Amino acid sequence: LEQISQLETLFTVDTQKLCAIVDHFMKELEKGLSKEGGSIPMIPTWVMTMPDGKERGTYLALDMGGTNLRVCEVELLGNRDFDITQSKYHMPPEMKTGSSEQLWDYIADCLQAFLQSHHPSDAQKELSLGFTFSYPCTQTAIHNGVLQRWTKGFDIDNVEGHDVQPMLEAALKRKNVPITVTALINDTTGTMVASNYTDPETQMGVIFGTGCNAAYFDVVKNIPKLEGLVDLDPETPMAINCEWGAFDNEHVVLPRTKYDVQIDEDSPRPNQQAFEKMIAGLYLGEIHRLVMLDLHEQGFIFERKDVEKLKKPYSIDASLLSQIEEDPFENLTEVEDLFLSRFGIQTTEPERKLLRRLAELIGTRSARLSAAGVAAICKKMGIEKCHVGADGSVFNKYPHFQERGAEALADIFGWHHMPPTHYPIKVQPAEDGSGVGAALIAALTLKRMKEGL
Ligand code: BG6
Ligand code: GLC
Repeated sequence: LEQISQLETLFTVDTQKLCAIVDHFMKELEKGLSKEGGSIPMIPTWVMTMPDGKERGTYLALDMGGTNLRVCEVELLGNRDFDITQSKYHMPPEMKTGSSEQLWDYIADCLQAFLQSHHPSDAQKELSLGFTFSYPCTQTAIHNGVLQRWTKGFDIDNVEGHDVQPMLEAALKRKNVPITVTALINDTTGTMVASNYTDPETQMGVIFGTGCNAAYFDVVKNIPKLEGLVDLDPETPMAINCEWGAFDNEHVVLPRTKYDVQIDEDSPRPNQQAFEKMIAGLYLGEIHRLVMLDLHEQGFIFERKDVEKLKKPYSIDASLLSQIEEDPFENLTEVEDLFLSRFGIQTTEPERKLLRRLAELIGTRSARLSAAGVAAICKKMGIEKCHVGADGSVFNKYPHFQERGAEALADIFGWHHMPPTHYPIKVQPAEDGSGVGAALIAALTLKRMKEGL
């Protein structure tokens, strides 16, 4: 019991702390937009309009997020509606740390396979592609992007510091695949644009999945780092891919535990993505595992048990953590079976209760910190009421993530006098974010090109 209350102290982010985080976050968002820059990249995406709902046409979209590779063909129907055909391709985990050629060739093969099964007759017709590449890329135009650094555990040589669009196009050419990359998009921007297409009250897109991040619309006059680079009207809207996973890389305000520090140190990119490493799906199970091993070493759990299998890094993923939280049985028999079959560890009931409480604490901390990011953007922009389109495995599948996030927003903004259904800022599931978003952005780009803008 004492261990539980210590863990509670360690992992709980109370309202006061949450508000301090929001205040610091707002300053860091501004800093990211300044000429000097800051930790949060705040990348102008060159997406400069929301869709008007009348967009039409058929576009290809390629979605390279964290877990899967998806190729979609999206038909925009011109009435805020769409049809989508898609194929998912497994991204072999070795590819995350393989060679650059392997990655681009694999993607080109997937696109080719998709065209062959869906367009065998007009195989030579040049198609335009919206490429959702969800890693921080500096963009000087809508169709290109220089990878700043890999995130989400990727570590492929010779991509950081290079424009990814020519690399993909070269692989497509090598393999004779008739596709041109019209737009390079972040999943958050895609999610925002797609959600706005079906729900015009949407002003922000967020991803809570393997990684976490947000996009929103700012205006050129608020983005000093664009000064001197382009001659745009100061009132021009500009979608910003925040890359907020990098928030607080200086460790000023986030309540990091020694487990968070260890995750960072053992990751391929230490000192990067401080915020993401406390929130995102890739890390949630790992935090749980590190706490368990620590408790074991201190003699509090799994006494005289062989924990060798639990020593494997990343052997608990977010879906396993969800299962631990969701066990419907009073004495947690599902958790018992799970530990026995996966790790060969026979657990006692008090141990299982502790493990479940720990999962709740980690999941709740993630949801509350995520809400701090949403609140910071709203406050910075003076938004009091809006919808936020959200996607990603944690948002969609992690138990209670959405309610916990809403509760944290209510704590920050003082909404507890109203029922949750009346909360003015609503974070809600996006309408197939990246596929439709990429198609819409490709459509908006082609329209701008035709208009000579
Ligand atoms: C998917 C989107 O639904 O969610 C991707 O299509 C996005 O673009 C992904 O990257 C994020 O979730 P996860 O859990 O796969 O990282
Ligand atoms: C990581 C990526 C970012 C992406 C997010 C969600 O933070 O750097 O580009 O949006 O994960 O997938």
